[in-house]
Amino acid sequence: MDRDQKFFDMYSLVIGALAIAALGIFVLAMKISDRTQEVFTRDGAEYQAAVAARIRPVGEVYLPGEETTAAAPTAETVSEPEPVAAALSGPQVYNSACLACHGAGIGGAPVLGNADAWAPRIAQGIEVLKDHAIKGYQGSAGYMPAKGGRTDLSDEEVANAVDYMVTESQ
Ligand code: HEC
Repeated sequence: MDRDQKFFDMYSLVIGALAIAALGIFVLAMKISDRTQEVFTRDGAEYQAAVAARIRPVGEVYLPGEETTAAAPTAETVSEPEPVAAALSGPQVYNSACLACHGAGIGGAPVLGNADAWAPRIAQGIEVLKDHAIKGYQGSAGYMPAKGGRTDLSDEEVANAVDYMVTESQ
């Protein structure tokens, strides 16, 4: 009984001391973080800049000769116009849109490289050929659909293909 009491006293003492120590550390940690953590955050350049941006006045006054600090549109902020896709070249258009008929002479189409078939057509003049290719053409040999059916092609691209077909067929 005596020893138990002694043990109990000792035990309580140790537990009490530990509890007080833990509390002390906790309070100390709170105090230190109070004085450091937040201050560091508030002093941080990023935080300061964010605050400055939030409380920035809506308008700013510049006196003549004063340097402007506001973000005037610069080369970086002005978006570049979308680059216009370059027109396809004659061979590119021919291979994707004209070859199907003009490669083998489907439906009466004059075959690429056949000078005899092309000579009377070329004699009409390149502008007429381009016009027929762009708008479509019903001839005695067959029907040439407008742009070869590829309405997604630009007039310029179809004209490129006609130039290519004519140079290849002389
Ligand atoms: C569906 C088949 C077909 C496709 C695809 C086609 N053509 Fe033709 N094309 C013809 C036919 C058929 C003729 C002949 C019409 C005639 O003279 O009776 C012809 C004729 C032509 C002529 C001669 C017109 C004239 O006045 O003599 C040109 C130039 C021509 N095509 C260009 C093209 C180009 C460029 C393409 C591709 C963008 C193309 N064709 C795609 C069927 C086609």
